[in-house]
Order: sequence, then C-alpha cells, then structure tokens
Amino acid sequence: MIAACNKKDTPPAPDPCLGVNYTVDYFKTESIGTANNGTYTVNSPIGDTISYKLGTGTYQASNTFTNLAPGKYVLPIKNQKGCTDTAQFTIFNYGPKYAAVKQIILGYCGPCHLNGAINGGKNFDTDANIVASWDRIKARAVDNTPSQMPEAPNAPLTPVDKQKITDWVNAGHRQSD
Ligand code: HEC
Repeated sequence: MIAACNKKDTPPAPDPCLGVNYTVDYFKTESIGTANNGTYTVNSPIGDTISYKLGTGTYQASNTFTNLAPGKYVLPIKNQKGCTDTAQFTIFNYGPKYAAVKQIILGYCGPCHLNGAINGGKNFDTDANIVASWDRIKARAVDNTPSQMPEAPNAPLTPVDKQKITDWVNAGHRQSD
C-alpha cells in the first residue's frame, strides 16, 4: 500500500471582512415639511467601494435616499468584498417652523440647557421637552420676561430668530408645525 501523501494543509484564507467596521455618521434630517421629502446621506470614512440599500430594497451605489417619510430606517451597507454592516437612522417629523426653532435652540441655548444640562428646570435635549416648554421659550427668548435668554452676557436672539419662535408659537407650537 502506498503511504498517504504527507501534503501540508493549505492555511485557510484570511477573512476579508476581518476588521471591517463601518462607522456611519448619523445625519438626522431635521427639516421636513408635511410632504415625504426627507433625505438621508451616508458619510462613510472608508475608501472602499460601498453600496447601500434601504431596508429590504436592492443595493445601490448612491449614498443618498430621498422622498423618505418620517420614521426609523435600517440601512445595510456592503463593500466590494461583500462585507456588510448596518446603520440606522431616523427621519424626524419636523414641520418647517419647528425645525427653525430647533435650530435656534441648538445654536443658542447650549451649554446651559443642552447635553444633559438643566438650568431653571429646563433641558432641551429632546423634542418633547422643547415642545412642552413652548410658552417659557417664547417668554424668555422673545419677550425677555422676566429676563433675557440666552442669559446675559450672551447676546439676545436677533429679531429674525425671535420672529421664527413667534411664528412657531402662533402656528400651534407643535413638532409638526
Ligand atoms: C449661558 C447660559 C444660558 C443660556 C445660553 C441660556 N440659558 Fe436659559 N437659563 C439659564 C439659567 C441660569 C436659568 C435659571 C435662572 C433663570 O430662570 O433666569 C435659565 C432658565 C431658563 C428657563 C426656565 C425659567 C423660566 O423662565 O421658565 C427657560 C425657559 C430658558 N432658560 C430658556 C432659554 C432659551 C430658550 C435659551 C436659548 C435661546 C436659553 N435659555 C439660553 C442659563 C442659560
């Protein structure tokens, strides 16, 4: 009998997906009207050729998805070697007036009322908190009652920004306004 050939096993091919980890920048669309016109763009820091698909759709090269209704989305991502990862994002149901107010709050009310900070019992990290505080936001940032917000020595809001808050309040001060 001939002895079995003593050939060395070929080492297994290294996993091409080892260490591939897509860090997707979350881009929250904050200004959409009542129409389903949300847009989501993926910013991937990796130089791979990446394709994307929305939920159960088909993979596409473009990293921009338009005409999205408000809601939570799952976004599978694949590179040219077939390595996959998944991102998630949310299209918020913001009306244009609320979107403008949110922009003002993010720009002018930190650090005192953002990123966990609470002053005067107010924190504006969530939309629910902002919406619930509509009257006090107008009182302090538009009418300066009993004193101006943003707090001195910070500059008060411009007349244009004050008007945006007033417009939102008059429209019904909802997230969808
Ligand atoms: C530099 C810090 C600072 C900034 C910036 C700031 N605030 Fe304040 N805010 C405070 C402090 C301190 C208090 C508590 C003392 C008081 O009420 O005057 C307060 C209290 C409040 C209150 C609760 C009291 C009440 O009258 O109902 C509201 C509402 C408010 N701020 C709104 C705002 C808005 C809106 C912005 C941005 C447009 C803003 N603040 C920016 C420091 C700040």
